[in-house]
Amino acid sequence: MDFRFDIIAEYAPFFLKGTLLTIGLSIAGVFIGTVLGLFIGLGKMLRNRFLSFPFSCYIAFFRGTPLFVQILLVHFGVVTAITGETHAIAAGIIALSLNSAAYVAEIVRAGIQSIDRGQMEAARSLGMTHVQSMRYIILPQSFKRMIPPLGNEFIVLLKDSSLVSIVAAPELMYWAQAMGTQYFKVWEPYLTASLIYLVLTLSLSFLLNRLERRLATE
Ligand code: ARG
Repeated sequence: MDFRFDIIAEYAPFFLKGTLLTIGLSIAGVFIGTVLGLFIGLGKMLRNRFLSFPFSCYIAFFRGTPLFVQILLVHFGVVTAITGETHAIAAGIIALSLNSAAYVAEIVRAGIQSIDRGQMEAARSLGMTHVQSMRYIILPQSFKRMIPPLGNEFIVLLKDSSLVSIVAAPELMYWAQAMGTQYFKVWEPYLTASLIYLVLTLSLSFLLNRLERRLATE
């Protein structure tokens, strides 16, 4: 087997551009997903069933259907249908964010429910309203518990952003496939892409570990 380093070198600039877009897609996805997910998670926890139902449906849909299908729906069904043009990167960010929001919503709910009941009772007995107790006592404590699963979400999204290549957003996987089909090669493009993803995920988990250790006081 002759391993063609020359074609990897030829594609290096494209892999670099693709990697930057992969990082951009994941950062945008996890950021927008976290903001949306916070609201959806709180929405699902509303005590009024009629109000919380739409949030539960949202979470059920985005967690219960493949991200792959969601990307196609958002790209062709929404973005292209509305604008009349293809905006693969925008569609990718929207699909990743919407999907991530559903997972973040559950992280938020789990984080809040993991705080001991006594905390709410103590806050209420000091005369705080329900909203004040949430804002000043429960949420600050639960945010800390949400950080490790949110870090996980980031890593998952980084890998799953590769699915956006299906709508031709020129991220890392897109260029690997372009190289593979141009030269009829498998190992050169996909091993290179795997290595880049591995470096990204390992660096990210290293950084997240440090962050967790710094924040761990309990
Ligand atoms: N790969 C799964 C899917 O296709 C998971 C999607 C994303 N997961 C996440 N935590 N955001 O549906």
